[in-house]
Amino acid sequence: MRITTFAEYETAYQKSVEDPESFWAEIAQEFQWRKPWTKTLQWNFTEPNVKWFVGGKLNITENCLDRHLATRGDQPALIWEPNDPSEAGVTLTYRMLHDQVCRMANVLKKNGVVKGDRICIYMPMVPELAIAVLACARIGAVHSVIFGGFSAQSIADRINDAACKLVITADGAYRGNKEIPLKGTVDDALIGCPTVERVIVMTRTRTPVSMLKGRDVWMEQELKHVTADCPAEEMDAEDMLFILYTSGSTGKPKGVVHTCGGYMVYAAYTFQNVFQYDAPLGERAPTERSPVHFCTADIGWITGHSYIVYGPLACGATTLLFEGVPTYPDAGRLWDVVDKHDVNILYTAPTAIRSLMGFGLDPVKDKDLSSLKVLGSVGEPINEEAWHWYDDNIGKNRCPIVDTWWQTENGGILISPLAGITKTKPSFATLPLPGVQPVLVDENGKEIEGNGVSGNLCIKFPWPGILRTTYGDHERCRQTYFATYPGLYFTGDGCLRDEDGYYRITGRVDDVLNVSGHRIGTAEVENAINMHTGVVESAVVGYPHDIKGQGIYAYVITDQQPTDHDAELTKRDILATVTRVIGAIAKPDKIQFVSGLPKTRSGKIMRRILRKIAEGDTSNLGDTSTLLDPAVVEEIKNGAV
Ligand code: WTA
Repeated sequence: MRITTFAEYETAYQKSVEDPESFWAEIAQEFQWRKPWTKTLQWNFTEPNVKWFVGGKLNITENCLDRHLATRGDQPALIWEPNDPSEAGVTLTYRMLHDQVCRMANVLKKNGVVKGDRICIYMPMVPELAIAVLACARIGAVHSVIFGGFSAQSIADRINDAACKLVITADGAYRGNKEIPLKGTVDDALIGCPTVERVIVMTRTRTPVSMLKGRDVWMEQELKHVTADCPAEEMDAEDMLFILYTSGSTGKPKGVVHTCGGYMVYAAYTFQNVFQYDAPLGERAPTERSPVHFCTADIGWITGHSYIVYGPLACGATTLLFEGVPTYPDAGRLWDVVDKHDVNILYTAPTAIRSLMGFGLDPVKDKDLSSLKVLGSVGEPINEEAWHWYDDNIGKNRCPIVDTWWQTENGGILISPLAGITKTKPSFATLPLPGVQPVLVDENGKEIEGNGVSGNLCIKFPWPGILRTTYGDHERCRQTYFATYPGLYFTGDGCLRDEDGYYRITGRVDDVLNVSGHRIGTAEVENAINMHTGVVESAVVGYPHDIKGQGIYAYVITDQQPTDHDAELTKRDILATVTRVIGAIAKPDKIQFVSGLPKTRSGKIMRRILRKIAEGDTSNLGDTSTLLDPAVVEEIKNGAV
């Protein structure tokens, strides 16, 4: 299934458009199915209703683990690099990983989990996190991984939305020089989660934790009483594999649902092709070292799901899991990891590159980066300066950079170069992968054809990894993605197609922010700020930020105009409230107290004006005559922070 030349890409692309069903059927045949599918694709984008590999039966862990045992059982599947470089890491071969996943799956069964149950996972970046994910998949339980930076309130909302029965967590997590109390946060969350019957706690930091009798059990204890024999549950291709919550324009994050068959095929196909992972199944002698793929994302985000866990393992690759952060113990840590483990593929986010750029070249100087073959970027637009820095100093101008554009809802990469095959252009995601049919539309939904144009990015045909629904609320899925432009999947991104037909993503056109590659809804942040005592109303917009890509700018009305001294304290309190309600990733970078917000006569906040002021561009605020109180704009302009 690996494309090796640009001509092959063109042929594959054409075939994928002309005859998508046979194109994907051929690829899907390379996997292990318990029972073949009867219909490759059924779909409409109106309900929407998308089904791939209808009637097919499989278990994704048999594809990620069991089928590799004969050919590569002793090859490293997962390499773990701990937060503290002096702590010993872990290398798990496919055989060891298989064994551990089966044991963990038996622990889940022993604790009453059955097929279809939803399991919340709130863990540090340790091997047990990947093992827990796969253990759920092994027995047909649906995992909902929550990023370790989210607050108790966010956890509770997500647990309740999916009615999770069990939580897998750890006492704490190490992140840089910080120790984060995961179990304590889970305890706070569970005060409001009646569906949770059991909590499995792994020890990582030995942070003292409370263990509630009858509810909480230690993972290490549980593992003592199980065997490594756990047959995989037979799943329908369209059975739910996982839920992953992501932000949209409205206040409440939604549970994006991915299913077993299509997601597996798409994650694996895109992994192998985009990164040109050159270990086609069965072709490699088991003794030969397999290329090492290092994706720096957290498994709590979609990038970690698809390109740390499922994609690489489905392709029999060696995946590296890093517990720490790029700047601990110093700004050379990523390069140390590359050097130490002879990493061949490095997949990271522009925000990490920009922050490391700030430390200059000293941290890179003495590191041997010659093992690198492919560099990747994901999560937000990569600016040219960062692209060149990455190319010059990390790839030494000999590693292709793949700027991969995609979303939680997509399951895998949609627009990206194929490493070394597609000619790259800084800040362009370049061309759609086979199976992906992008279109640009204007505000009225009319397709903008030809090159040298821009518009809203939509996709007009399903690919196997497309979301199937939003958990518990299919109407919301329809409204959010399929109603804006009937017949099309709407991405929420603006996009430019240049003269060469290359795509460049210009950023969200809705009220979703992208802060350090993390998706955050403005309404979510506003709701959190509004929970703070004394806050009457708030409006949140994004503004360009040198390192984070976008920063969060909050305009806040309080019931009493604070004095200068009070204002500083109140700002800190508001940040504490946002951290408590959502998590530290949603903290505003700037807060401005205002006496009013620019509203139209119908009461709608004119965000366009607030965005301009936040950007520091007040020269031309456009037409303000429709405002209820134009004077407020002057006040906001003069008080900008
Ligand atoms: C943005 C992350 C420009 C985009 C995989 C998208 C990008 C949102 C890129 C999805 C890229 C992701 N260039 N923008 N290469 N990759 N984005 O769901 O705005 O966390 O809609 O998925 O990130 O974020 P999400």
